[in-house]
Amino acid sequence: MKILGISGSLRKGSYNTAALRAAQELLPQGVMLEIFDLAPIPLYNEDIRPIPETVQVLGERIAASDALLIATPEYNYSIPGVLKNALDWISQLSNEPCAGKPAGVFGVSVGRFGTVRAQLHLREVCAALGMIVLPRPELYIAQAEQKFDSHARLTDEETRERLRKFLIALVEWTRQVSGAGGRR
Ligand SMILES: Cc1cc2nc3c(=O)[nH]c(=O)nc-3n(C[C@H](O)[C@H](O)[C@H](O)COP(=O)(O)O)c2cc1C
Repeated sequence: MKILGISGSLRKGSYNTAALRAAQELLPQGVMLEIFDLAPIPLYNEDIRPIPETVQVLGERIAASDALLIATPEYNYSIPGVLKNALDWISQLSNEPCAGKPAGVFGVSVGRFGTVRAQLHLREVCAALGMIVLPRPELYIAQAEQKFDSHARLTDEETRERLRKFLIALVEWTRQVSGAGGRR
């Protein structure tokens, strides 16, 4: 099984990208996670046609994956523009690579609420693109500075365990959705 990971943060020390790297270590056997960097994706502009190569490549990587795993920061109670921008571009691809695609959403914040509000918005956007998002467990990682070390490594054992269980649930969800005729 192949999962494509997307982080809504571009910064090098991003906790969300670091959580995706931790997920690579915690996946069940036989499952691979590729992390796609959103940095080269331009700002959406309908005047830019044909659709840029970087967006086409992202669409191809999504189409080639069995599931998506999106790690989102919370910016002003919502998802970062970087992530919304990438999803807006993807929604314009005629082959609709996200339609019927199983997905897991989670997020990391430095504050106390662990991206609850951003994830609610992200679920709505994912629905617009036709993704089938894992309903439970929800995974909110709050107070990141206490969970990651100075090298952005997820060191908190309890959080690693929650992430490991979340990934098991996503893999099971992907099998269920695909078996039920989800388009891939
Ligand atoms: C523009 C901006 C807005 C933010 N708004 C929120 C917010 O609404 N809620 C929250 O919990 N954290 C907020 N934060 C703090 C982020 O949780 C924190 O920067 C986090 O580390 C971002 O994720 P990253 O480490 O993956 O880059 C905000 C940060 C920025 C830069």
